[in-house]
Amino acid sequence: ELKPLPDLTPQHRDLLDRVCVYVYETCHPPPTEYSYRDMILKDLESFIRQEFSGSHLCLFGSSMNGFGFKGSDLDICMTLEGHETSDDLDCIDIIERLAKLLKKHLDLYNILPITTAKVPIVKFVHRPSKLEGDISLYNILAQYNTRMLNMYAAMDERVRILGYTVKRFAKICEIGDASRGSLSSYAYILMLLYFLQQRKPPIIPVLQELHDGQPKPEKMVDGWNAWFYDDLKSLPKKWPHLGENKETVGELWIGLLRFYTEEFNFREHVICIRQSAILTRFEKMWTSKCIAIEDPFDLNHNLGAGVSRKMNNFIIGAFIKGRETFGMTLRSDLYHQYTPMPYIVDYLFDAE
Ligand code: CTP
Ligand code: MG
Repeated sequence: ELKPLPDLTPQHRDLLDRVCVYVYETCHPPPTEYSYRDMILKDLESFIRQEFSGSHLCLFGSSMNGFGFKGSDLDICMTLEGHETSDDLDCIDIIERLAKLLKKHLDLYNILPITTAKVPIVKFVHRPSKLEGDISLYNILAQYNTRMLNMYAAMDERVRILGYTVKRFAKICEIGDASRGSLSSYAYILMLLYFLQQRKPPIIPVLQELHDGQPKPEKMVDGWNAWFYDDLKSLPKKWPHLGENKETVGELWIGLLRFYTEEFNFREHVICIRQSAILTRFEKMWTSKCIAIEDPFDLNHNLGAGVSRKMNNFIIGAFIKGRETFGMTLRSDLYHQYTPMPYIVDYLFDAE
C-alpha cells in the first residue's frame, strides 16, 4: 500500500528543483570531454584502417544523445565502405580480428571480444582516460535512436535535467545495469520520455507522429521505419504546445515517481514512445513478462524482456521508495540555506 503524499509546498518544490539541477550540473561532461571523445574515435579509426581499409567508426549512445555522464562508456559502431549492411559479412570473424588488432594498440587494455551476445562487440578500456568502450558492427538503428533522443533532449531543458536525474537514481538504486538483469539507462530514458509525452499538457511531442495526417514518410533501416520529425528549428511551428506545460523539474520529478507507482498500469500497458495512443501488452503479445518497454524503432524489441520477476519487484520497490523519499515532507534541516547541496543530494538519493 502506498502512503499518501502531502501537497508539494513551494519550499519543497524549490528544493527538488535545486536537487535535479545540481545532479545535471555535476554529472554532465564539460565540452572538452566531448572533443576528447572525438579525438579517441579518430585515433581508433586510423589505427583500425591499417587492417580494415574503408572502415568508419561512429559514436552513438550517451556520448551523442544528450544524456551522457562524465566518464560514460564510448559506444562505437563500425561500418565498412562498400557494404550497405552486414548481411554479406562474417561479423564474428571481424570482431575476433578486431580484438587481435586492438591488443596491439598501446593506449588500450582489457580487450575482450564478446561474440555470443545478440549484438557481437569487442570491449576495451582506454588507458589515458580510463574510459570504457565497445565497438559493434552496423548498429544503425542505435544511431537513429541516439539522434532521436538527442532531439528530445534539445527541445526542452527539463527533459535533459530529468534524464540525468533518472539515470543517477537508477545507478544509485542499482536498478540500471541490463547486464546484471535490470534495465539499461536507455530504458530509463524511454520511461522518462513516455511520462513526458503522457503528461497533461505534454512536455514533448511524439516525434514519430509529427507528419500531419500525411502518410508517415519511410526511412527503412534493418526492416523498420526509423523516420522521425527531426527539424528542431521548425518544431515550435510544427508543435505549438512546446512550452505550454510550465511545471518545474522538481514537480515533474516527483510526478514521474508518482506516475510509475500510482498511475501506470504495468500489467496491461506497454511503455511506448512512438505513438500517443495507449499500447497494450495484449496487442504486442508480450503478456508473460513483467515490465514491457518497446524500442521506438525495433518494434520486436522489449527492453524489459531480460528482467526477472524478482528484479521487477526490486525495480518497482526502488520507485516506491523514491516516491516516499522525495515526496514526503523533508527533514527541516535540508531546507536551511547553508546546508550544502552535496549533502542534500546524497541524503535524498541514498536515503535508507
Ligand atoms: N541501445 C539500444 N537497445 C538497447 C540498449 C542500448 O538500442 N537494448 C543503444 C542505445 O542507442 C543506447 C546505446 O545503445 O543509447 C548505448 O547503450 P548504453 O551504453 O547501455 O547506454 P547509454 O545510453 O550510452 O547510457 P550510459 O551513459 O549509461 O552509457
Ligand atoms: Mg553508453
